[in-house]
Amino acid sequence: MKNIGVLISGGGTNLQALIDKQGSVIKSGRIVCVCSNSAGAYGLERAKKAGIPTMVIRKNADCGGDAEEFSRRICSYMKDMQVDIIVLAGFMAIFGGELLKEYSGRIINIHPSLIPSFCGKGMYGLKVHEAALDYGVKVTGATVHLVNEVVDGGKILIQKAVYIQDGDTPEVLQKRVMEEAEWIILPEAVEMVCSGRV
Ligand code: GAR
Repeated sequence: MKNIGVLISGGGTNLQALIDKQGSVIKSGRIVCVCSNSAGAYGLERAKKAGIPTMVIRKNADCGGDAEEFSRRICSYMKDMQVDIIVLAGFMAIFGGELLKEYSGRIINIHPSLIPSFCGKGMYGLKVHEAALDYGVKVTGATVHLVNEVVDGGKILIQKAVYIQDGDTPEVLQKRVMEEAEWIILPEAVEMVCSGRV
C-alpha cells in the first residue's frame, strides 16, 4: 500500500474524487495527508470530513515568497507523513527545488486540457477553458501526467477527450471536463502509479 499526499489550492473536487474512489478504483494506495497553499481552500474541509490530516503552507505568508523554502517546507511535510506519491489535484503553484528532486517520477498532476494544447505557465483553472473557447476547438479534455521541471511537460499517463457544445461558457465547459474526464482519469492514473504500472 502506497501513502498518497495530495496538494490542493481550491475547491478540491478532484480531491473528493480521490477520496470517493479509495478502495474501489484506488486499491494500491491511501490518502495520508492533504496540503494546501491557501488557508481558505474548501478542499481542506473535504479532507477534514474524511478524517484526513491537513496542513497549510503558503509561499508568501509562511516562506517569505522564497520558492526554494516553499518547496523545502512541502517536501519536509510530505516526508514527515511518510508520503510515497504526491498528487497535484488543482494545485495552482509551480515548484521546483527539493520537492521535485526528492519525489522525481512520483508526482502526478491533472491538467484540464489535452496537453500539449492550452498548457504551460499561466494556464490554469478557468483560463484553460477560456483559451480553448477563444481558439474555437471542438474537442478538449483532461490530461494526467508526471511532473518534471517543464510546466505540464512530463510523461502523459492518461488523456480523455470531451466535446465542446454550442453556447459553452468557460464555467459550463469546466464542469463538463471535470465530470466527464478529470474525476474519472485522476483516480485511474493514481492507481496506475501506486500499483507500479508506470
Ligand atoms: C481542475 O479543473 C484542475 O484540472 C485544474 O484546476 C481545477 C481545480 O479544481 N488544474 C489546473 O489548471 C492545473 N494547471 P478542484 O480544486 O475542484 O479539483
